[in-house]
Amino acid sequence: MEVATDYLVLGSGIAGLSFALKAAQHGTVAVVTKKERAESSTNYAQGGIAAVLSPDDSFELHVEDTLKAGAGLCHRDAVELVVKEGPRMVRELIEWGVEFTRREGKLALSREGGHSRDRIVHVSDLTGREIERALLERVKEHGNIEVYENHIAIDLITEHHVFGVKGVPKGHITCWGAYVLNTQTGLVKKFLAKVVLLATGGSGRTYLHTTNPRIATGDGIAMVFRAGGKVGNLEFMQFHPTALYRPDANPDEPAFLISEAVRGYGGVLVNRKGEPFMEKYHHMGSLAPRDAVARAIDQEMKRSGEPCVYLDVTHKDPEETKARFPNIYARCLEAGIDITEEPIPVVPAAHYMCGGVATDLWGRTSIRNLYAVGEAALTGVHGANRLASNSLLEALVFSDRAFRDSLPRAQEPEKFPDVPDWSEENVFNAEEWVLLSHDRDEIRRLMWDYVGIVRSNYRLQRALRRIRLIAKEVEEFYRRTKVTMDLIELRNLVQVAELIVRCALARKESRGLHYTTDYPELDPRWQRDTILQKKP
Ligand code: FAD
Ligand code: SIN
Repeated sequence: MEVATDYLVLGSGIAGLSFALKAAQHGTVAVVTKKERAESSTNYAQGGIAAVLSPDDSFELHVEDTLKAGAGLCHRDAVELVVKEGPRMVRELIEWGVEFTRREGKLALSREGGHSRDRIVHVSDLTGREIERALLERVKEHGNIEVYENHIAIDLITEHHVFGVKGVPKGHITCWGAYVLNTQTGLVKKFLAKVVLLATGGSGRTYLHTTNPRIATGDGIAMVFRAGGKVGNLEFMQFHPTALYRPDANPDEPAFLISEAVRGYGGVLVNRKGEPFMEKYHHMGSLAPRDAVARAIDQEMKRSGEPCVYLDVTHKDPEETKARFPNIYARCLEAGIDITEEPIPVVPAAHYMCGGVATDLWGRTSIRNLYAVGEAALTGVHGANRLASNSLLEALVFSDRAFRDSLPRAQEPEKFPDVPDWSEENVFNAEEWVLLSHDRDEIRRLMWDYVGIVRSNYRLQRALRRIRLIAKEVEEFYRRTKVTMDLIELRNLVQVAELIVRCALARKESRGLHYTTDYPELDPRWQRDTILQKKP
């Protein structure tokens, strides 16, 4: 079965939907999304969107804060264009119906780690849910957009599928669409498009403890790498310092986030005795950039042998706390913690992938017709450590740029090659879920234990050997088994885990989120992106 369209959008988070809404003014759009349409990291975003919106703030300050957090690896041109577009992007969201929190009629602005000014627009502590709601409502109204829920992209369609291995060109590869599995019928369809937008989100699920929902298995990065495109900076997995600690946590469920806005509001990180400790590690104290806070917590936990540290807001007005953070208050109360009366137990958890599919300033990847935006992309904005609340902004800006750049291409006459149907000859139905779940759990634990906040060559090498073994088994299994969502995700997860370790081994210094006991900090010789591409 075949679907032909002007634009194929893979993913229905902020990056995919904001692009789809603009593209639909000019052509037909198919949005393919692997679960129900709202399920995305976007839907769980709490803190908000960073943008320069107050008279005591400036583009220069936002740019400087972003560059400082990024530890010398941000691309200044990418940062500048994202920051300058901030106010326009916020206005656009308001036009689409997002109801941001206001104080005395004006947009309320909060502060988060690494920011020198209050500049985060938000919708109490449920910003992402409101954005996703508004975008999906606008999408529903649009006759040109068809959303395919419970459809997972398996692989990008390139010369490899059309002309075979020998037909893959030496220079630029071209993407004509994707093979997509309908997870409810088990049928694989061909989606063909003049422009393909990869907006598949992050890869936090490669780690045992993560704030990310189940969809975040790095599918886009794995698909592009397999197709021969460039990916990079995957060593920079950001650990959010404050996920709610539960001794009986089920790692299949995302760790509940305690927003950085809680620290911006005055929350203080303390140890079990109630003593603040961040000043020992960073002059910005509890509001230092995330890499510094996560490392400090890791060190405090190792030193004390305690399983967590605490975030204390008990000195703040209880009614104000409840009004500002209704969701966090309610979720903690469900867990038996009244945050107005006792400190919140917190631990770091994998949160955001700063690397991804390498793009230029228009979201173009190294594969023709293929754009990558949002958390799946490496645009140069985040460098070695993303500044809080810069990712929703980056997703909006680059989706807008990708839309503008791809418009002429989408208006050309349709010219697709003869793409073969998906073939599953010589495969069997295997009821081997136990093998898959075992492999998945092993990868996630390996990554947590050996490729975490503090790294060493010894641990990284050990991780790589084991991951490669699992990767070989998974690939053999994949070749002889009917595809399922679990199998596709496992294949991607192990691929991305291997790429993260390879990037980490390639970087022979400590920088930002990549901290290793084997190399010194900020060696100028390594002030460059780590780019990986499969050998032809
Ligand atoms: P997502 O929103 O994750 O969407 C990805 C989409 O791709 C999903 O629809 C998914 O189903 C689909 N998909 C994935 N693989 C496939 C496939 N193979 N086939 C088909 N569909 C696929 N950032 C901020 O700036 N501010 C915040 O306050 C903030 N808070 C956060 C809180 C939490 C708990 C989390 C987890 C993240 C937070 N972030 C925040 C980060 C931010 O939410 C994400 O980086 C951003 O939402 C990513 O948007 P996206 O559109 O790129 O991806
Ligand atoms: C948070 O609310 O702490 C998340 C913000 C982000 O990830 O940018």
